[in-house]
Amino acid sequence: MKKIDIRIQIQHYAFEELPETDRALVNKAMEATYNAYADYSNFYVGAALRLKDNTIVIGANQENAAFPSGLCAERSAIFAAQSQYPQQPITTLAVAARNTNGFLEQPITPCGACRQVILEIEDRYQSPIRILLYGKNGVYQINTVKDLLPLSFVDANMR
Ligand code: THU
Repeated sequence: MKKIDIRIQIQHYAFEELPETDRALVNKAMEATYNAYADYSNFYVGAALRLKDNTIVIGANQENAAFPSGLCAERSAIFAAQSQYPQQPITTLAVAARNTNGFLEQPITPCGACRQVILEIEDRYQSPIRILLYGKNGVYQINTVKDLLPLSFVDANMR
């Protein structure tokens, strides 16, 4: 038996330290929280992604009285982008969240289902997606969704 040690590295930035293009994307994610339909959770999540050609697409969580029929902000943005710009890889995805007290101090991270969807996009275009997670205490930067999904499952694992 030998142990396998899996490590990840996250960069923790002060918002002001981020490059202008990243600050703009995070701002779009924050604005997108106001497009959430979150009458059941009162938890408002916004996502903004940048495509390779610099187009920005936003998403916000959309809830439903039949709970499983809702969708997270991240997948709303990703599926909108893929539907409109199927030739364009996603380079960066920013996420922000608020509850009834305002924006959260600590960043939230994408749920498991969203991580798997982000992974599929990385796999589809063979290109990593940088993830920026906004909190009032700072912004986490994750360089690839693989860091959030160790031992991940992709198409190639079936062959
Ligand atoms: N939610 C997101 O949109 N993204 C996340 O990363 C976490 C959770 C949504 C789903 C649901 O509408 C609400 O937040 C509470 O879970």
